[in-house]
Amino acid sequence: MTSETAKLTIGDQEIELPVLKGAEGEIAIDIRALRAQTGAITFDPGYANTGSCRSTITFLDGEKGILRYCGYPIEQLAEKSTFLEVAWLLMNRELPSANQLEQWENEITYHTMVHEDLKRLYASMPKEGHPMAVCAAIVGALSTFYQDVKFDSPEIERRIAAVRLMAKVPTIAAYSFKHSIGQPFMYPRNDLNYASNLLHMMFATPCEEYEVDPVIARALDLLLILHADHEQNCSTSTVRMVGSSQANLFASVSAGISALWGPLHGGANQKVIEMLISIQDGERSAKQFMELAKDKDSGVRLMGFGHRVYKNHDPRARILKQACHDVLQRLGTSDPLLEIAQELESIALEDDYFVERKLYPNVDFYSGIIYKALGIPTDMFTVFFALGRLPGWIAQWLEFHGDEDKKICRPRQIYIGANERDYVPLEKR
Ligand code: CMC
Repeated sequence: MTSETAKLTIGDQEIELPVLKGAEGEIAIDIRALRAQTGAITFDPGYANTGSCRSTITFLDGEKGILRYCGYPIEQLAEKSTFLEVAWLLMNRELPSANQLEQWENEITYHTMVHEDLKRLYASMPKEGHPMAVCAAIVGALSTFYQDVKFDSPEIERRIAAVRLMAKVPTIAAYSFKHSIGQPFMYPRNDLNYASNLLHMMFATPCEEYEVDPVIARALDLLLILHADHEQNCSTSTVRMVGSSQANLFASVSAGISALWGPLHGGANQKVIEMLISIQDGERSAKQFMELAKDKDSGVRLMGFGHRVYKNHDPRARILKQACHDVLQRLGTSDPLLEIAQELESIALEDDYFVERKLYPNVDFYSGIIYKALGIPTDMFTVFFALGRLPGWIAQWLEFHGDEDKKICRPRQIYIGANERDYVPLEKR
């Protein structure tokens, strides 16, 4: 906290509110005493100006296009790190030593199997059901298999719950895909790294091994790193909010998966590819689509564009655009969807509508083209986003748990409904 204060005049009352300063100089007015002192609340739909916590995990400057995990620029982590190392970083705020990393990788590897009974849950769900719905349900069901996982379990047990989630959610995700295509579930393999094992569980069958291409495994690892955390976004805030009622980690993360599914959040990656395919199929040209996206009455948005916080390039989108080219080149293939995406981007960057509103490509704009090149089916894209975001959700839930300022999340409202009136009996209505 700084000694600075903000003065607020409301009616004939003037109050002073403390001003908080973050490590990177960002400032916040601490309004915790506002209602007690004035009777007023703040009104901030979508919480666009509301700081919900203090956090040591991720720093994001949307104006400058900066993203750092625990101080490390995303560009460096994307180039030099691995997803499991990043997951450790997010949970411990420091990069692991060689020993710590080895131990962490082993721990994750040896928790990847799921209880055999859990597999039966898939059978009760329609094969056509969206895998995000399946994953949310199965992750929620983990609470029934590990009943001693409580909000206030001892630290060691909270940590084991975190390891279990990191290890088992890829298995759960791959099984949701296998279930959708009617293939047998593939057990995890302990000789493979995180990304390779995920690809094995997705694409191997009991009849045929899946040769993991290191180019594909590395590209997948990069995608997971880029999605690993993004401070107080919708799904992360959901995880914290559910946790604030003292729900356990599995229940909180299951809710986070549901929040991520929506097309304005993680579900946008699937919508981007569907949008590009509709242009490729000639439903309308890129230019016509852009006109539609600007027309408020059309209900159409340019998916993968715009961001609540980034009012400049999303650094993840920059990395992914380059990765698209690299992956396609290294796989010796091409994708006309990449050209369509680039055409949409160049129209947007020149168009007043997008320029004035500071709408730039976000993480979802190019990621789908890579998933597609890696052979990931379209309705699994958002599941892969969830796999990437998992360490962020866990780290944020654990941080909330230890936060001395924590309180149940319970916003207020401005009531604009009917004033008090007497009940009218049915025969008189
Ligand atoms: N296409 C067309 N117009 C847009 C778009 C878009 N993609 N995004 C924002 N706008 C317009 C919007 O209509 C509004 O115009 P006006 O000021 O005239 O009313 C203005 O830009 C501000 O938009 P907003 O909806 O108030 O901004 P927000 O911060 O509430 O929403 C957003 C951010 C990401 C939900 C939004 O930009 C959007 O819907 N984008 C498309 C969906 C998408 O790509 N989502 C992925 C987000 S990044 C990854 C993640 O977090 O999951």
